[in-house]
Amino acid sequence: MTQSAEKAYSAYGEANVQDVANADCDWDSFDSVSYFEHNYSKARQADVTIARIIANHFSGCFFPRHSRAIDVGAGANLYPALAMLPFADEVHLSERAESNRSWLRTQIEKPAASWTEFWHVLSNGHGRYEPVADFRQALRRRARVEAGNVFQLPTGVYNLGTMFFVAESITTMNKEFRRAVNSFVGSLKVGGPFAAAFMKDSSGYRVGIRDYPACPVDESDVRRSFAEIAHDVKLDTIEDTEVRSGYAGMIVVTGRAGKKK
Ligand SMILES: C[S@@+](CC[C@H](N)C(=O)[O-])C[C@H]1O[C@@H](n2cnc3c(N)ncnc32)[C@H](O)[C@@H]1O
Repeated sequence: MTQSAEKAYSAYGEANVQDVANADCDWDSFDSVSYFEHNYSKARQADVTIARIIANHFSGCFFPRHSRAIDVGAGANLYPALAMLPFADEVHLSERAESNRSWLRTQIEKPAASWTEFWHVLSNGHGRYEPVADFRQALRRRARVEAGNVFQLPTGVYNLGTMFFVAESITTMNKEFRRAVNSFVGSLKVGGPFAAAFMKDSSGYRVGIRDYPACPVDESDVRRSFAEIAHDVKLDTIEDTEVRSGYAGMIVVTGRAGKKK
């Protein structure tokens, strides 16, 4: 473990700095406002690139009527949900932290200006987004904010899904990272398209006055975590260290749930 990682995890006191489990963290105190301000109060280049990749991916898929979508660990980020909006009657924003659930409810009623920027990025050049004339109204109708735990998701329920910066950013433990990816993909119907994003080689991160753990993963860890549970998997690495120090870019994965028959 690097010195900076030890420093970041020292906030956990009793916890072994090498093993910060998801359950060791006080998620309900997650500072949604700081997180949003720092990461999504404007559409940064890395997120614009990711938004285009996932809009392309979902735009190329067929969805049955009355599809249901899930964004796991939605946090203070609406763009994964916006990316799924044209394709689902219900978009479930599943989140462990009460602070983030409350923030999400407020934003769904009155979205910050940056979500309009993100909507333009998602819809520009992607005709499948055109039927959504007013994304704010569609969001209010379709979004469902729910208390949820990535380790306890139902199996085979959702037609499409996203999980952004969750599996590797909620624990230092590799086995929890893999369980989170498994559970996310397992919550989708077989063949259901998904998009997931990961911080590469993250050594933990600070939100407001609190430090949070991360499990450092690279492309081969991410690829391996999807190998047995998904198909048509594609990885992109987005070089970016603009948002915070202590990581080496972002990895975006698109694919479909289940092994190809
Ligand atoms: C780094 S943030 C990512 C937030 C957001 N998805 C994004 O794209 O920025 C990690 C999120 O995972 C949530 N989280 C932590 N443990 C979780 C769990 N067991 N199940 C679901 N979400 C969890 C946190 O509350 C936080 O919102």
